[in-house]
Amino acid sequence: SGRLVIAVDGPAASGKGTLARRLSAHYGLPYLDTGLLYRMVARAMLDAGHDIRDAAAAERIVASFDQAGFAEETLRGREIGEAASVVAAMPAVRKGLIERQRAFAAQDEGAVLDGRDIGTVICPEAPAKLFVTATPEVRAARRHRELAGRGEAATFEGILADIRRRDARDSGRSDAPLKAAEDAVILDTSALTVEEAVAAAVTIVNARR
Ligand code: C5P
Repeated sequence: SGRLVIAVDGPAASGKGTLARRLSAHYGLPYLDTGLLYRMVARAMLDAGHDIRDAAAAERIVASFDQAGFAEETLRGREIGEAASVVAAMPAVRKGLIERQRAFAAQDEGAVLDGRDIGTVICPEAPAKLFVTATPEVRAARRHRELAGRGEAATFEGILADIRRRDARDSGRSDAPLKAAEDAVILDTSALTVEEAVAAAVTIVNARR
């Protein structure tokens, strides 16, 4: 009954995207993967030949960018995840993306959003907040399988190093660092199957709605 906003945050390859998609199907709510917004900014920076650390160029891109121009398969690669975490540390980039995320969450029925700062910054009033984690090794193994499925060659050790670097950057930045909201429920998926994680998440959301 009533509208429901579900905030799903967590580090790279924690399983938050899979969980958020499953929750959106379960409750019949629209879903936004907010990581894609940062990936689009990174893609546009690289396509335009900018240095990924050029904050002035990133700010211009965010001010004028149009989500419609990006194909998802050009956003999922390993290089783009890394570049996205660089632009995501820029306050002007984060600021420029806040309104479209809040507008998405403001839809009548509610919404499911996943990212790093949904429960802390974008939707602090959301009744249901999940912080999804897993050990770096489990996350690296999942990402390794996913990239292999996409035909992208990478070693487990290389991916584990990527994940540790991205965690450090996402947790260490001063603007909207990755962290659990005080009222988030932490869900460690390290030892859970997808079905077990979904069941646990639904139980948590039902208790909060
Ligand atoms: O979730 P995903 O791996 O697609 O996100 C890519 C990068 O975008 C993250 O490493 C993070 O730096 C950034 N991000 C963010 N805030 C969000 C979603 C993603 O800073 N809400």
